[in-house]
Amino acid sequence: MFRKYRNFLRGISVNRIGQVGVILTTTAFVGFLFFEFLRLIGVLDNAYIGLITYLFFPAMFVAGLVLMPLAWYRYRKRQGKSTRELLNERFDSVDIREGFFGSRVFLVILLLTMVNVLFIAGVGFRTMKFMDEPRFCGTACHSVMGPEWTAYRQSPHSRVKCVECHVGQGVDAVVSAKLNGLRQMALAMLSNYQRPIPTPVHQLRPSRETCEQCHWPDKFYGSRMVTFTRYGMDRNSTASYTTLQLKIDTGHKAGKGGIHWHIASDNEVRYASVGDKRENIIWVDWRRRDGSTRRFENIRLKHKVNTADYSRVRIMDCVDCHNRVTHVYEPPETAVDNKITRGMVDRTLPFVKREMLAAITADYPSDEAGLQGIRNHLFGFYRSLNAVAGARMSDQIENAVRVAQAIYKRNIHHHMRIGWNTYPNHLGHRDEGGCFRCHNPNMRDRDGKAIRHGCTLCHSILAYDEADRFQYLYKPDKKNPNYRMHLFLRDEFLHSKVQADKN
Ligand code: HEC
Ligand code: HEC
Ligand code: HEC
Ligand code: HEC
Ligand code: HEC
Repeated sequence: MFRKYRNFLRGISVNRIGQVGVILTTTAFVGFLFFEFLRLIGVLDNAYIGLITYLFFPAMFVAGLVLMPLAWYRYRKRQGKSTRELLNERFDSVDIREGFFGSRVFLVILLLTMVNVLFIAGVGFRTMKFMDEPRFCGTACHSVMGPEWTAYRQSPHSRVKCVECHVGQGVDAVVSAKLNGLRQMALAMLSNYQRPIPTPVHQLRPSRETCEQCHWPDKFYGSRMVTFTRYGMDRNSTASYTTLQLKIDTGHKAGKGGIHWHIASDNEVRYASVGDKRENIIWVDWRRRDGSTRRFENIRLKHKVNTADYSRVRIMDCVDCHNRVTHVYEPPETAVDNKITRGMVDRTLPFVKREMLAAITADYPSDEAGLQGIRNHLFGFYRSLNAVAGARMSDQIENAVRVAQAIYKRNIHHHMRIGWNTYPNHLGHRDEGGCFRCHNPNMRDRDGKAIRHGCTLCHSILAYDEADRFQYLYKPDKKNPNYRMHLFLRDEFLHSKVQADKN
């Protein structure tokens, strides 16, 4: 059997080109099967070897297949003989005797072609699948995607594939994404890309085709209680609490709903913003199902903005609020607070919050300098405090250093020019951004009524930087200067009509 195949190959490879073709195809075939086998039994999961297995080998295989008939064609031309004469020359008479289904050579070629087609189809399928794997997207162009990959793996979506948000459904989406991907790979190889990678991502498909495949927009969300724990800059890093009851329901009637009102099937919210950043909003349209609309215009920008800017109109979807749902970079203070809350840092270390924050936010020229600088800062500080009393303390400092370095590694990426707060988060209202881009007193309709922006529209407030998580639920103290405010917040929470789970 093997000898027959060898004879056949010898017959086929008529000249150098033909031999090269046979070698390429055979090597690629064997190589692919070998690496695929290693991958299947779990020995390999490296993205670079994936590139060889799924892009290089298939290309080599096809190139070989193309060379073989080319070689035959050239050989025939050179020799000036007909195909029949050449076949007679290169194969045994048994092989080319016409049988019922054609000669044996013909049958072998037919069979091999069928095997090749199946092989290519199989490889193509595997290649597509491989390119859909987050590991490929996240690590094949390591330095470019490094930050996104790091943030992704610690996010709520670390088990969701990149392509499920970035490519979406449908053949056209897949094809255009693959073409775009090839272009980006080329640019990455030429080091020709922007650092940091710009957002918003215009290729992102509408969330109907991505997020909404898994999350149901009209779902009854109810409300969600969150507590933010902050630590002070004092010696004991004293804790204080902010507790919010977020009104995240969708709701259907205005005033009955909550935060997900914007994406309820009855509403469409559109807006135009200055430039490309979606930060300064010029106007907002609220369109109801019956077609009636209400427009709010930013009275601060109305007369200042060029009409050309109005062309970028966007229909609001999940990503206008959840823009950092996967690539979660933390603000430095939040990062330190969260680690202390989780008990990863010992709070008995004096000024640990203040000093960790100072260590990670200092200006360093490179990633390595940052890690070293953090260590120097913390050890330097505690040495000057003369607090390194005994081995226990130095263990604690060592630990604080490790945690601070981990925060730094996760959030700061010098080679991509990603520093603290490079990517704004629209989910709250830090620095008047996020929700306050629209929910502010300047966004007015024709009658001069602004988009509502009262503090309890989106959340009840049960504590705001207080010593107790539910401070405002206790009987308010009449002597407290904020007595009326506390009373108001308590009643708003207890008797609120818009609170979804009480409707
Ligand atoms: C749950 C959905 C989701 C998943 C999964 C996801 N992304 Fe994203 N990605 C987003 C959103 C949303 C944005 C921001 C879009 C915007 O602001 O316009 C984004 C932005 C980006 C950006 C632009 C830079 C930035 O940080 O804003 C890159 C690059 C990126 N994603 C790569 C990846 C890679 C690589 C993976 C897989 C390892 C991945 N994404 C997985 C939703 C996702
Ligand atoms: C393939 C399915 C899938 C897709 C697509 C998807 N998600 Fe998710 N999402 C999940 C899963 C799974 C979780 C985690 C649930 C959990 O931990 O309880 C999650 C969690 C979330 C959360 C809660 C986060 C938290 O802090 O707990 C939000 C918000 C969210 N997704 C928004 C989005 C948005 C916006 C998009 C589109 C850009 C999206 N998701 C796309 C599956 C998906
Ligand atoms: C692009 C503009 C825009 C952004 C950004 C925006 N909103 Fe709104 N929102 C509106 C408009 C318009 C209305 C309807 C007008 C009104 O209720 O006064 C509205 C209404 C609401 C309502 C009341 C719903 C109801 O039942 O009547 C809530 C709650 C709300 N938004 C929460 C938020 C939160 C939270 C964010 C940020 C995470 C946010 N919005 C960001 C435009 C926006
Ligand atoms: C107006 C801003 C806004 C829009 C638009 C929006 N969300 Fe949200 N969403 C929020 C806020 C605010 C929260 C609460 C965040 C928190 O818990 O910290 C939230 C919470 C969630 C959660 C977590 C719910 C839970 O029970 O914990 C999911 C899932 C979610 N959103 C999915 C979506 C999807 C999918 C879309 C698009 C169809 C969407 N959101 C559109 C603001 C928005
Ligand atoms: C349009 C909706 C909306 C309005 C109006 C609003 N908030 Fe918020 N607020 C949010 C959302 C959404 C978050 C983020 C929750 C998260 O991060 O999960 C938030 C977070 C917060 C936080 C905790 C985060 C932090 O930075 O400390 C505080 C405190 C807060 N809001 C206070 C207020 C006060 C005071 C007002 C009135 C001036 C107000 N909010 C008005 C939606 C709103």
